[in-house]
Amino acid sequence: MRRAIFVLTFLILAAGAAKAAGSPRALVAVFSRADENYNVGFIEEGNTRVVAGMIAERTGADLFEIRAASPYPRNYKECTEAAQKELSANARPALAEDKDISGYDTIFLGYPIWWGELPMAVYTFLEAHDFKGKTVVPFATHEGSGMGRTEGSLRRALPGAKILKGLAIRGATAQNSRDQARKSVTSWLSGLGF
Ligand SMILES: Cc1cc2nc3c(=O)[nH]c(=O)nc-3n(C[C@H](O)[C@H](O)[C@H](O)COP(=O)(O)O)c2cc1C
Repeated sequence: MRRAIFVLTFLILAAGAAKAAGSPRALVAVFSRADENYNVGFIEEGNTRVVAGMIAERTGADLFEIRAASPYPRNYKECTEAAQKELSANARPALAEDKDISGYDTIFLGYPIWWGELPMAVYTFLEAHDFKGKTVVPFATHEGSGMGRTEGSLRRALPGAKILKGLAIRGATAQNSRDQARKSVTSWLSGLGF
């Protein structure tokens, strides 16, 4: 009996080690803002964060939230003004927290479209890390711009990374029509082989 338990424990540990060594590790890194937003009013969980949760759930990826050290205004209009100033200044706002991404092969990178672009805090995150050889899978929520200019921006910012086809979902769909959003996430992921 003891011997059987020993053999079983060994097999379970060996299988776990083989899986850890062989399977690529994935991270969902997402920037998202709750509070007041276009078309959805005041929300508790940001639209892109909702989609990030769906991706993490389906792929088993870890999840990290990219947050600026100074929060953006809760009011929608004030936030658009703050974001426009950052964009014009090509600012790199400090982050509240960072994440070591060196052990991940695949980074699902999520963000809302802000003025057609990535929020500047996402650039702070991208520039703090080495993405050479990594696969980056972008996803965005928006209210009409789709991926905006962000796919080109990512290619320029991450020349050593392989960037896969992104997913753009309306923020209001992510927030209020979750079954529909989940279907889009699932078919996009399976189309990419995840
Ligand atoms: C500062 C700011 C700028 C925005 N600019 C755009 C834009 O250029 N195009 C667009 O389609 N939506 C724009 N939106 C709408 C957001 O992309 C959309 O509401 C998104 O779902 C917000 O995601 P979040 O809740 O994860 O932050 C903007 C919203 C904010 C707050």
